[in-house]
Order: sequence, then structure tokens, then C-alpha cells
Amino acid sequence: MAGRIITVAQQKGGSGKTTVAANLAVAWALSGRRSVAVLDVDPQGSLGEWFERREERLGEDATGLSFRTASGWGAKREARALARDHDIVVIDTPPHADLELRNAIENASLVVVPVQPSPADLWATEATIEAAEKERVAALMVLNRVPPRARLTDEMVAALGEFEAPLARARLGNRVAFSEGFKLGASPLETRKTGPAAEELAALAKEVLAVAP
Ligand SMILES: Nc1ncnc2c1ncn2[C@@H]1O[C@H](COP(=O)(O)OP(=O)(O)O)[C@@H](O)[C@H]1O
Ligand SMILES: [Mg+2]
Repeated sequence: MAGRIITVAQQKGGSGKTTVAANLAVAWALSGRRSVAVLDVDPQGSLGEWFERREERLGEDATGLSFRTASGWGAKREARALARDHDIVVIDTPPHADLELRNAIENASLVVVPVQPSPADLWATEATIEAAEKERVAALMVLNRVPPRARLTDEMVAALGEFEAPLARARLGNRVAFSEGFKLGASPLETRKTGPAAEELAALAKEVLAVAP
């Protein structure tokens, strides 16, 4: 029995792929019922840096996660291998990368697409969803770094409604708890358990698992 592979992808850089990947992985691992692996296929290695800080903070045996890196065709192999002995494999992908993206999507049950409420993100989202469609993998768009009370967000929601892929009900706000937590190799679920960031993340983690086949 193989675990689920959930790939976080978005052609646009800085949209929150690494943040979303790391935080979803922690959220699922913290439930204690699931073994979770994270796979970084971005040569920039931001997720790896996050994981190293996590190891420093918690100790190598206490991160609650397995971590691997891979590139190109190796991503597909590594994802499959991890899925054999984990319940969930979360893959973080680079921007602007056709080959890496294809290999990271091919065996996935779901592609999570973080989208910031900006026109540039909107354009890149279409390409990302098409990449998922080509591999016949379902996609779920997630609004990230949502500012409070912005008309642009409503306009984005309307514009995203034109795409084939659904938009997650859960959204992540633009919150210091996410950027600070990232530097600590942690998630708001560990550093600010009762804040809005933790609540948003918990809701998103639940929704994504419910959607991933
Ligand atoms: N919801 C959020 N709230 C606050 N800062 C965020 C949020 N999501 C991402 N960031 C910040 O935005 C920057 C880019 O995010 P990152 O996850 O590295 O994007 P990507 O992996 O798509 O390039 C980082 O500095 C990160 O800390
Ligand atoms: Mg990244």
C-alpha cells in the first residue's frame, strides 16, 4: 500500500510553495497518526534549510519528518520510494521548471497551487494548472499571504473561478507567524498554537487531505 504524494507547485517564485509545503507537512505529522516525508526538488534548497533549522531546534530524531532531496528524473523515483513507507509525501518544487515539475507531478494524487492575490500570480497559475492537467492530476488552488480587507482578493477569487481547478475554502493570511516560524524550522502550530496562522493552517491541512484522492 502506497502513501499519498502531494506536490506543491506554482510557476511563479515567491508565491509560498516552500512555506505551504513545510507547514502542511508539520500539520499532518503533528496529528501523530501519519508518517510524513518531505521531498525538496528545488535546487535552491530552501526547504532543506528549513529542515536543518528544524533538526537544530528539535534534534535529528525529533523532527517528526523524513527529508530527502532529488532532481530531474530522480524526483519521480524518490517520491515513489518515500511513498512506500510513508503515509504522505509532500514535494516542494522550483519555479519556472518544466522537467522538475513534470517529474514531481507525475505520481501525485494532488497538486496544491499557492496563489498570492496579485495579477502576476494569476497568470502563472494558469500554466501550473495546465501542467497538472497534462499529467491528469487534480489541482487545488490556495490563496496565500492574503491581506486583511483587500478588494484585490475578491477580484482574484472571481478571476480564479474561471480556472478548471477548485479554490480551497481555507486561506493563509499574510502573517508574521509564517515567516518567523519558517526561520526556526517550525510551523505556527508549534510556535503560536492559538493564533490565527495556526487556525488557518489546521483548516487548510484538513481540507487538502479531504480533497486528495
Ligand atoms: N502566508 C504567509 N505570511 C507571511 N509570509 C509568507 C507567507 N507565505 C510566504 N511568506 C514569505 O514569502 C516569502 C516567499 O515564500 P516561499 O514559501 O519561499 O515562496 P516560494 O517557495 O514559492 O518561492 C518568504 O519570505 C516567506 O517567509
Ligand atoms: Mg521555494
